Amino acid sequence: MQIKAPRGTYDILPEQSAKWQWMEKILKQTAYEFGYREIRTPIFEHTELFERGVGETSDIVSKEMYTFKDKAERSITLRPEGTASCARAFIEHGFYSGLLPVKWYYSGPMFRYDRPQTGRFRQFHQFGVEAFGSDNPFLDAEVIILLMEIVKLLGVKEPELHINSVGCPVCRPMYRQLLIEYLEPIKTALCSDCQLRYAVNPLRVIDCKNHSCQAAIKEHPLLSDSLCPDCTLHYQKVKSALSANGIDFIHDDNLVRGLDYYTNTAFEVHIPGLGAQSAVGGGGRYNGLVKECGGPDVPGVGFALGMERMLLAADLYQDQQEPANPVDVFIITMESRFIDQAMQLTTQIRRAGISADMDYNDRSPRAQMKFADKIKARLVIMIGEEEIEKGYYLVRDMQTSNQYQVDRETLTENLPGILLKNEED
Ligand code: HAM
Repeated sequence: MQIKAPRGTYDILPEQSAKWQWMEKILKQTAYEFGYREIRTPIFEHTELFERGVGETSDIVSKEMYTFKDKAERSITLRPEGTASCARAFIEHGFYSGLLPVKWYYSGPMFRYDRPQTGRFRQFHQFGVEAFGSDNPFLDAEVIILLMEIVKLLGVKEPELHINSVGCPVCRPMYRQLLIEYLEPIKTALCSDCQLRYAVNPLRVIDCKNHSCQAAIKEHPLLSDSLCPDCTLHYQKVKSALSANGIDFIHDDNLVRGLDYYTNTAFEVHIPGLGAQSAVGGGGRYNGLVKECGGPDVPGVGFALGMERMLLAADLYQDQQEPANPVDVFIITMESRFIDQAMQLTTQIRRAGISADMDYNDRSPRAQMKFADKIKARLVIMIGEEEIEKGYYLVRDMQTSNQYQVDRETLTENLPGILLKNEED
């Protein structure tokens, strides 16, 4: 039987990886410009980190984690997200006693046992940023501006930024109580998931996507009416900093986010054209997370964007596909006995920092020419008896069919100029 990639996973093939590289460059460059530096954490962590960090009542921890026992019977989990790992690393390396805030970015695969559909996978990729050590609302604004800048640079038009404040340990318990009292008499009208959520995590009922739940809770009490003065002020400052920096947003009373660590600001970016999985990124402030993970009381804020969804969104607005990294020079061997010289020439060109390839399948010169054309090689160089004897090569521009006779000794010096001409044509 043929073995296929597990459900919810997929291969990024070389034709698509050019797009990924294009996106990754923009993500990293922009985060760098905003003062964020890269952190790489392990793909797996102790399960307890996510139970404590993301929260046991969240969907992620209660149903979606890839958890297993290692050979020493430790409970290990493939990371479902990056924020808890960053908090762990922040504590483990004592960053809290250094210069604050620390600003990190990361990217890589995440794992959630979710129901696969367009834009939703079991192994997917996130690019995220986390800033630890400041409670300043301008830092909330900074991470949101960074996310919106990235969306713009990837060519995505009309993104919808939704923001809300989910309160703090002072005001949220009061709101939670209000909500439970409101939901109690109507709980039978809720979906089966929400009937379970209602007692443990009633806030999640608010952002249930089920239409019957939305209809049943239409008149629910609003979080924004229950915020304490500090949270109200914090939220106002974030909104005015966004406006001052030209960022449009929608205040969304129903935005509560699916992870338990959030306090104050919560946000999501949606691309309406993406359909059901329209959230390309989300994040917020998490002032209790570092403490929850065993560290001191240090605040934090950040976001993560889903790289698959971001690429789908970029595709919606791009008329042209990025070129799939064609090879610069293809060496055509006129007779198979010259393969030794062909390899030396290929090596010489590669060492000059130019991408080069050659034939390994004993094709005829004609078939090699066709092959070079198919892989969209920009130049070909023929190597045969005459070239070897006379010490020069014929370099052919595949686009214009112009030919250049180049001395063997000066070939690598001349190639960049010929490639430049090819680019200009
Ligand atoms: P999240 O909202 O769970 O937040 O995930 C962020 C983004 O990852 C989503 O908006 C979505 O684009 C993408 N994503 C999530 N699940 C999947 C999936 N199964 N398949 C494809 N894409 C997916 C977090 O993970 C937080 N750690 C964000 C954060 C950082 N908050 C503060 N700092």
